[in-house]
Amino acid sequence: MTEPFTVAIDGPAAAGKGTISRAVAARFGFAHLDTGLLYRAVGAKGGDPVAAAKDLRPEDLARDDLRSAEAGIAASRVAAIPDVRAALTDFQRAFARRAGGAVLDGRDIGTVICPEAEVKLYVTASDEVRAERRWRELRDNGDTISLVQVLDDLRARDARDRERATAPMRPADDALLLDTTELTIDSAVEKACKAIERQLGQG
Ligand code: DC
Repeated sequence: MTEPFTVAIDGPAAAGKGTISRAVAARFGFAHLDTGLLYRAVGAKGGDPVAAAKDLRPEDLARDDLRSAEAGIAASRVAAIPDVRAALTDFQRAFARRAGGAVLDGRDIGTVICPEAEVKLYVTASDEVRAERRWRELRDNGDTISLVQVLDDLRARDARDRERATAPMRPADDALLLDTTELTIDSAVEKACKAIERQLGQG
């Protein structure tokens, strides 16, 4: 496929967006952008967040401390600053419209970055299930944070992301809702792929 085709995948932390996005990108040969990484990199740079967003470089995205719980909280804080979001918009839109198709996952892809996306998914799961998934992931990376702390952090981060004035986290009106609380990763990926195939005219 040479023409642009955008898949927007939004939702709260640890709902399964990343896993679904990577699987979808591999299945259809689309490029994938984890937009949370942009905000994590801005938060981790320190100093003036607007300046950090304006001169974000590829090497800033390669830091290996961006997946930590602290980096998630710092990302959510800088993500509430309108000028930080504005500085990252063009890059995301250009990525979304590249030839060959793209999957972007984040919080505002279907609503603000790519309201014209061909497919929009909003992935959710219960707070407890999301916290446990994130806790396992952090623990596997050597983090000793407790499950209760992860649940508290996640709820605080979601509230901040949902309640900010600029580009708050919410499903687009035309998004397909995918609740992964009781789904295996394989069946969540299957549902996402079906929605894309329908839109591509293959379903
Ligand atoms: O997806 P993530 O957990 O890596 O995102 C980290 C933070 O970045 C999240 O709490 C809010 C912010 N974010 C955002 O505001 N908009 C996006 N499109 C992606 C992430």
